[in-house]
Amino acid sequence: MKRIGVFTSGGDAPGMNACIRAVVRGAVYHGIEVYGIRRGYSGMIAGDVYKMESHSVSNIVQRGGTILKSARSKDFMTPEGRKKAYDNLVELGIEGLVAIGGNGTFTGAMIFGNEYGIPTVGAPGTIDNDLYGTDYTIGFDTAVNTALDAIDRIRDTASSHDRIFFIEVMGRDSGYIAVQSGIAGGAELVMVPEVLTPISEVVETLKQGWSRSKSSSIIIVAEGDEEGSAQEVADKIKTQVDENADIRVTTLGHTQRGGPPSAYDRILASRLGLGALEGLIGGQKNVMAGIINNDLVYTPFEDTIRLPKPINEDLLRMVKILSV
Ligand code: F6P
Repeated sequence: MKRIGVFTSGGDAPGMNACIRAVVRGAVYHGIEVYGIRRGYSGMIAGDVYKMESHSVSNIVQRGGTILKSARSKDFMTPEGRKKAYDNLVELGIEGLVAIGGNGTFTGAMIFGNEYGIPTVGAPGTIDNDLYGTDYTIGFDTAVNTALDAIDRIRDTASSHDRIFFIEVMGRDSGYIAVQSGIAGGAELVMVPEVLTPISEVVETLKQGWSRSKSSSIIIVAEGDEEGSAQEVADKIKTQVDENADIRVTTLGHTQRGGPPSAYDRILASRLGLGALEGLIGGQKNVMAGIINNDLVYTPFEDTIRLPKPINEDLLRMVKILSV
């Protein structure tokens, strides 16, 4: 393999730049030309690519976002879009790809690989940590710490005013950020998409807290929870608790997607970027590089997409025990 492309796609995640850096520097080290593809599959279709050198990735290891930019391409979901992308890659002489992203990114890569045979190796970059085949995804640790910083601040004001706060964290289909930030932030309850927490249980938790003289409470709601958004959960609760209960809602939103990556994410991203590149050079295709029990492993895209990554229900149980 003489020339490869690298791109980021889907929702950005802190650490993607460290991952791009590892791919580019690794390619330079191995004597392989590397092209950066801007805006993921959109740039592949538009031919928006540029040759990257070692200095192209200087001074980015500490930066959030992605210097290659990111997008969710609708055109790549069509056979015509993928044909255009393939023609562009052939014209540029790109023989393999490193894809940094999440579920949608790898679904696209798998379909593309099956249609045109271009080998792709993925590096898991998403704050959601919802990919089978790796213990942690790039950006998750930073997002948890960003959420935690906000929870700590909210706890101060919640306590001063004797308030109940419902804090919504990201995770469309996944409660990982909610569980980890909830444990670390000392939440009373964590609501996640994977396990239903009925409104009656939330009400019960609050009432029990009051009976033990708790004057403020923090409830973390993952974005994708079945009972609805944090605002919807709060609205349902209002009618069922003491009418004097002082309730507030905070949605942390995209603050969790930005900011400098944590040391953990920089190291993880560096390992996964180099792992993806060296896998590609070594003949791997249509797989995602991951770290499981501190070992580098490759998992077929099909499995990372199809197989669920279950939440550890013991952790949810622990939240309840530790908030008595
Ligand atoms: O997949 C990462 C994620 O941040 C999800 O947690 C969230 O639901 C989604 O992306 C938000 O996407 P967008 O940035 O397109 O609004």
